[in-house]
Amino acid sequence: MINPADIPHFTLYNGDPIPCIGMGTFGSDRVSPEAVADAVAAAIPAGWRLFDCAACYGNEDKIGSAFRASFDKGIVKRSDLFIMSKVWNDMHRRVAESCRRSIRDLQCDYLDVLFIHWPFPNYHAPFCDVDSRNPDSRPFSVAEFLDTYRQIESLVDEGLVRHIGISNMTIPKLETVLKHLRIPPALCESEMHPCFQQQELFDYLKARNILSVGYMPLGSPRRPERDILPDDIADMQQPELLKIAEAHHCHPAIICLKWAIQRGQIPIPFSIHNYEANLEAALTEPLTDAEMSAIAALECNNRLVKGQVFLWPGANDWHDLWDEDGIIPS
Ligand SMILES: NC(=O)c1ccc[n+]([C@@H]2O[C@H](COP(=O)([O-])OP(=O)(O)OC[C@H]3O[C@@H](n4cnc5c(N)ncnc54)[C@H](OP(=O)(O)O)[C@@H]3O)[C@@H](O)[C@H]2O)c1
Repeated sequence: MINPADIPHFTLYNGDPIPCIGMGTFGSDRVSPEAVADAVAAAIPAGWRLFDCAACYGNEDKIGSAFRASFDKGIVKRSDLFIMSKVWNDMHRRVAESCRRSIRDLQCDYLDVLFIHWPFPNYHAPFCDVDSRNPDSRPFSVAEFLDTYRQIESLVDEGLVRHIGISNMTIPKLETVLKHLRIPPALCESEMHPCFQQQELFDYLKARNILSVGYMPLGSPRRPERDILPDDIADMQQPELLKIAEAHHCHPAIICLKWAIQRGQIPIPFSIHNYEANLEAALTEPLTDAEMSAIAALECNNRLVKGQVFLWPGANDWHDLWDEDGIIPS
């Protein structure tokens, strides 16, 4: 067991501390809600305090039972945990309902962060395949995004949510919305791993005091089928990473986590088998400057979540979701 007080913390824009590493809870359509909840139940006494949940992961009620049991057994108090959830795309017009449901399912009284999971209301069903399209999908709309965001601001005013999070954003989208927000976002969750670092986005967020949460920090080796393409690169099989792992006598996963924390982002690895080792990554020998530089050089634009299932009628292809030419398609 690790003493949670030993885990380093980052600081949010208002001075609140947040653990430098969190546990992912998306079963990737492969791991059952019960198995994820069992891992959460065991992770709390092992020292984990930050949990990245989401309504659409379909397991918040099971995870809530694990939280409740840890409160009832006196292992932790609610205020010891940092619980994050996300509003799914089909609830953008009913954010309060979604938030209250997540709080009820997670049995947690309030959320430390509520994220807007995707910046548009394009719903896809769980377990769908890569060719699945929703005819009601539409491109990003500033007005719709701001409406969703303002609903979360009201939840902050009510005391149900402590911080606001955004996710799967791009710089062009941030440029259009940030200036209109009454309560700034504290965190932005984005795909970030050694072969997909999003340096420009990372720097942009940092300059605005928005802390990056890096999802798929290990390159998500067991991600859903819809997110696997033949040209995808496996981060943890990169020779340079293997070499660094050998030097530190650890699995390459641990090196990915150390790199993320030392760079200044919160990695949220999912694991039902290796969560103890993953938490230890925050405490054991740091990477050298040379190792950090070697990992920086692994960047190769290896985006894994292309997001095809969110495309709208008339969109060209998944590149339209990411505003790569600086223009938001309308
Ligand atoms: N905001 C968003 O849109 C978004 C999108 C995707 C994901 N997320 C969040 O990010 C979290 C992490 O992403 P992810 O689960 O796709 O990918 P990931 O954390 O990069 O990879 C998870 C996989 O790595 C394995 N693993 C973990 N630690 C390991 C270790 N020390 N040694 C060897 N293997 C290890 C796990 O297997 P074992 O279980 O066997 O350890 C699991 O199969 C999700 O759970 C979710 O909370 C957010």
